[in-house]
Amino acid sequence: MNPLITAALKAREDAHAPFSKFKVGAAIEDDSGRIHTGCNVENATYGLTCCAERVAVFKAISEGAKRLIRVAVVADTDTLTPPCGACRQILWEFCGDVELTLANLHGKSETMRLATLFPRAFDASFL
Ligand code: THU
Repeated sequence: MNPLITAALKAREDAHAPFSKFKVGAAIEDDSGRIHTGCNVENATYGLTCCAERVAVFKAISEGAKRLIRVAVVADTDTLTPPCGACRQILWEFCGDVELTLANLHGKSETMRLATLFPRAFDASFL
C-alpha cells in the first residue's frame, strides 16, 4: 500500500474524537522523504478542535520541514472525506498546489491536486 496512506491510517488510530467519534488521520511527506503525521484532536468546547490535516502541517513545520510535497487523509467513510475549508487554506499556505490523496479503511483512494478542491485560493501572492 502507498506508505503515506499507511502512515495516515496509523495516525488515525490516535485520534482524540470522543465527541464526534469521527476519527481522521493525515500524513504529509516532505522533500527529504520524511513523513509527518497528525490526527484530529477534539475539545469539549468543540470550537477548539483541530483537524488531522492541520495537526500534521503544524507538526511538520515545527519540526523543520521546508517543502511539503504529498498529503494523505484517511477517514472511515465510503465517500472519501476531503479536508474542511480551514484545512484547505492551511494546506495551501504551506503546501501550495500539493498532491492530495484521500483514502478510506477499505482500500478506496483517490489522488488529486489541492487546486481542484480549492480553486482561486487567497495567499501571500495577493499581499
Ligand atoms: N475532521 C478532520 O480532522 N479533518 C477533516 O478533514 C474533516 C473533519 C475532524 C474534526 C472533528 O474532530 C471531526 O473530524 C468531525 O468534524
